[in-house]
Amino acid sequence: MAEAQARQRGGHTEDVSAERLAESGLRFEVDGEIATITLDRPDKRNAQTFATWSALAGIGDSLPEQVRVVVVKGEGPSFSAGIDLRMFTPEGVPGQGSFSSVARSGDTDFEHNIRKAQAGFLWLRRPEIVSIAAVHGHAIGAGFQLALSCDLRIVADDVTFCMKEPALGLVPDLTGTKPLVELVGLAKAVDICLTARMVHAEEALRIGLAEQVVARDDLDRAVRDKAAELLSTNRDAAAATKRLLQGARARTLEEQSVAEGLEQAVRIKALFGG
Ligand code: ACO
Repeated sequence: MAEAQARQRGGHTEDVSAERLAESGLRFEVDGEIATITLDRPDKRNAQTFATWSALAGIGDSLPEQVRVVVVKGEGPSFSAGIDLRMFTPEGVPGQGSFSSVARSGDTDFEHNIRKAQAGFLWLRRPEIVSIAAVHGHAIGAGFQLALSCDLRIVADDVTFCMKEPALGLVPDLTGTKPLVELVGLAKAVDICLTARMVHAEEALRIGLAEQVVARDDLDRAVRDKAAELLSTNRDAAAATKRLLQGARARTLEEQSVAEGLEQAVRIKALFGG
């Protein structure tokens, strides 16, 4: 096991000591090529704050280079009940303000804060890693979006997804709308978001939101098995293939064919170039 420490990459410094992470409601463990992020405020159903998102970004910035698989899971009865509802009160979250204080800030500050929060979610798509959300119980709002930030979702049969934001007068802004549309299609995404309805395990599997549904007690094992399968392929080829797959939707067939050839040239040189 290794513990991430404060480190600087790309000009951004974030304290990701175990103590700081615990204050932000997270645990982070690295075991060889697998890193596990655990949302760890079970008594509050792993509600998330700005500190949680900042700490997530810090983990992304300081991720050890050997890591190839990142698992995101939740402690206790729920994966995550979404944003900490204290943000909606005048008092807010101690030390982190409230939406009232956010609303009073200038537009530039507001956009800056949202971008900072989104940074905690965006890095989970990096080509060098495969991220797996192990989702059980509730994944509501920001919890749903965190699960959507991961490449794969393996879920327990007790799972309930809910995009609650529109019911609260908000939009989902933690990078979840694009993966949702790409996974389930525009019509189903409109249905799920604009009704803020519950999506349970059977439907999640059927519409492509979940890759696999297992019994609650089997979730950890299923995630471990998937991680082992993912680690069985060549590291550099896996990253190059993920880059290709991620870019496929935005390219024409011709452009994608060219991109395949370019990536393959790098692979062939690496494997047989002497
Ligand atoms: N923020 C802060 N505290 C929360 C949150 C939250 N999002 N969700 C639950 N808690 C707290 C409860 O206040 C309660 O605290 P207490 O024991 O001090 O009273 C504790 O967690 C347990 O909550 P219960 O409601 O008793 O747990 P239960 O398992 O019955 O229900 C559920 C879980 C369904 C997740 C429910 O707590 C819930 O609906 N939470 C709010 C969900 C929500 O609206 N999130 C915002 C989405 S929008 C967004 O994320 C941007």
